[in-house]
Amino acid sequence: MKKRSVISMMLLFAAFIGVIVLFMQKQGAEHLVYDDEQQGLNKQIVIYFSHVVAENTPKGLAAQKFAELVEEKTNGRVKVEVFPNGSLYSDEQEIDALLRGDVQMIAPSVSKVTQLIPEWQVFDLPFIFETYSDVEKVFTGKTGKQLLSMLDKKGIKGLALWGNGFKQMMSNRRLLVDVRDFAGLKFRVMPSEVIERQFQLLGAKPIVVPFNHVYESLEKHEFDGQENTVSNIYSKGFYQFQPYLTISNHGYLGYVVMVNQTFWNHLPKEIQEKIMEAMQETTTWNLKQSKMQNESELALMKQNDRMHVYVLTEKEREKWKKKFTPLYEQFRREFGDKLLQQIENERKEAE
Ligand code: LMR
Repeated sequence: MKKRSVISMMLLFAAFIGVIVLFMQKQGAEHLVYDDEQQGLNKQIVIYFSHVVAENTPKGLAAQKFAELVEEKTNGRVKVEVFPNGSLYSDEQEIDALLRGDVQMIAPSVSKVTQLIPEWQVFDLPFIFETYSDVEKVFTGKTGKQLLSMLDKKGIKGLALWGNGFKQMMSNRRLLVDVRDFAGLKFRVMPSEVIERQFQLLGAKPIVVPFNHVYESLEKHEFDGQENTVSNIYSKGFYQFQPYLTISNHGYLGYVVMVNQTFWNHLPKEIQEKIMEAMQETTTWNLKQSKMQNESELALMKQNDRMHVYVLTEKEREKWKKKFTPLYEQFRREFGDKLLQQIENERKEAE
């Protein structure tokens, strides 16, 4: 009797362990989100793609295009659900959400990845790119691939680099033309040491504000100026508060498109290939489309009587570049010259 109850206890315990193991396998191995509105439920893979900008922006449109291409190429087996405007996660939260597996895909700006991998700061250096062809060459070439592969050690699979466009300076105080015009002003920045130092060199005070709080901070007059692309300035209506816009093209706003690595590794090989195909097509499209979009939205903003738009001359740009040389010196001290040299060579190939 005693022996029988010991055996049944053991069996019960074994069954309990079995249930736990099954549960953990389901959680760990798949990490896939199933869309229960679909037929063929256990065949469909759903990718939540969260981002913080408006739908009608280079990133918003690229995310949508990517979703369509993936669905088409996998005959509906993979569904990408895009959540724009920070509706799921803010830019402060999205990397952690990706690492936890709460979303499968995000595309934060390069600046927001510098906290994870400091080498990414190279793309935040002012005047690192002069033209859109420079950007395309470097983003899709050796440097882009090298930086993306650095994400592996952080549990992230880097898929591609997308672009938004060149950054411009704006203010509610005055046109920012000379390097001295920045003195004493407060500037909203993204979380990036290089960008913070850039404003400190100009005698300004950088304040980190998440993208989704910028509008609210503008309403409360919490800063005097900011840098961003025409597309972000236009789509979020920032120009209504800061009508002095300097076309400086001093920096570039790029995006690191990434997925949770565990999720990626559990996708069937043929699905990974289809996703990569869709990603390459989208990237080529995005790098062209972003240029056109920034140009056409600048033309629209120029039509607004309240806007003061000034295009920096070459001579004025040279003065800005000179002011920013300490940023390059510091980058070289921290990371050496190799990456900068490589970018320089790729840029030459783009000419
Ligand atoms: C910003 O914070 O200004 C940008 O990174 C937002 C974005 O994703 O374009």
